Amino acid sequence: MTKNISLIDLDPRIDSGFFMAKKDNKEAINGDFKGKDILSLDQFSPLDISILFKHTKRMRTIGVNAKPSDLLKGNIVTLIFYEPSSRTFGSFGAAVKQLGGQTIEVHDVSATSVAKGESLEDTIRVFEAYCDAIVIRHPIKGSIQKAADAAFFVPVINAGDGAGSHPTQALLDLYTIYEKFHRLDSITALLCGDVLHSRTHHSLIEGLSIYPNNTIYLLSPKKLKLSREDFAKYSKNNIKLIEIHDEKDIPENADVWYWNRIQRERFENPKEAEKYKDKFILTQQLLQERGSENLIILDPLPRVGEIDLNVDADPRAGYLRTQIRNGMYVRMALLSLVLDKA
Ligand code: CP
Repeated sequence: MTKNISLIDLDPRIDSGFFMAKKDNKEAINGDFKGKDILSLDQFSPLDISILFKHTKRMRTIGVNAKPSDLLKGNIVTLIFYEPSSRTFGSFGAAVKQLGGQTIEVHDVSATSVAKGESLEDTIRVFEAYCDAIVIRHPIKGSIQKAADAAFFVPVINAGDGAGSHPTQALLDLYTIYEKFHRLDSITALLCGDVLHSRTHHSLIEGLSIYPNNTIYLLSPKKLKLSREDFAKYSKNNIKLIEIHDEKDIPENADVWYWNRIQRERFENPKEAEKYKDKFILTQQLLQERGSENLIILDPLPRVGEIDLNVDADPRAGYLRTQIRNGMYVRMALLSLVLDKA
């Protein structure tokens, strides 16, 4: 007997109205996070970020006081990572649990049917049947957009797509900068490392472009400067980009130093990455020569030699302190807003 009932009709949540919120992918947030995919920073306005940060402060209270919350009670979030991660995976998982929700955690897709050849699209459609949101990382730029297009019902959050973008990292970086300076405009930032391949650099450039009067110095080996396509794309935004290739050109008035490792896994020949590994190392000496007193030093991590261990004790070093915990608070806030539980 043929049953004329679609699988969608069988899902009781379809009547809840929640799923109806998912509209076209890459939609502007426009003050309303409910059900939206989070794919890149160009979806955000200053108002959206201020809403997120207001909730982040609340989430910080929950975390700091170890105050139990059941904001996400009854919600399940899938974390599916096609690439290694410590911070993004760990903090999203902790964020869901801090708020009383549950996770499906796929840290190694080789243990799933991906190993048998299952496509990204089918994998997403399978997991969305089990959860309320999907957080995904993938090594190929553009894959998260594909995943979002494949998901019929649940919002998809970009946890890093290859050399493309890493929006939730930029949100936590912006929050950390905001905590320090109480503003996100009129900031001078120095971004150093593999600017060509670093998705955290790309998203932070997009994030700072949302606000007026920001200047970003991009310090990299010449071969690892932004692609001309990206340089043109970001330059259209509200930001002044200055490319430099020598430490002597670091401005002495920068508010933010944002160091990141050479992205070895993005090189066709990883041995080539070795050539650039020690080119720009943040040392106490460099800090003394070029760093301002009121600087904040950030690094999305992992650290693989780009910041000397002696810098860790410097009060300006934020990478092993506020930056990491802020990742959890910002992701708590983001999930509660996207799942309409804020
Ligand atoms: N910052 C960051 O993305 O770190 P992980 O790769 O460990 O998630």
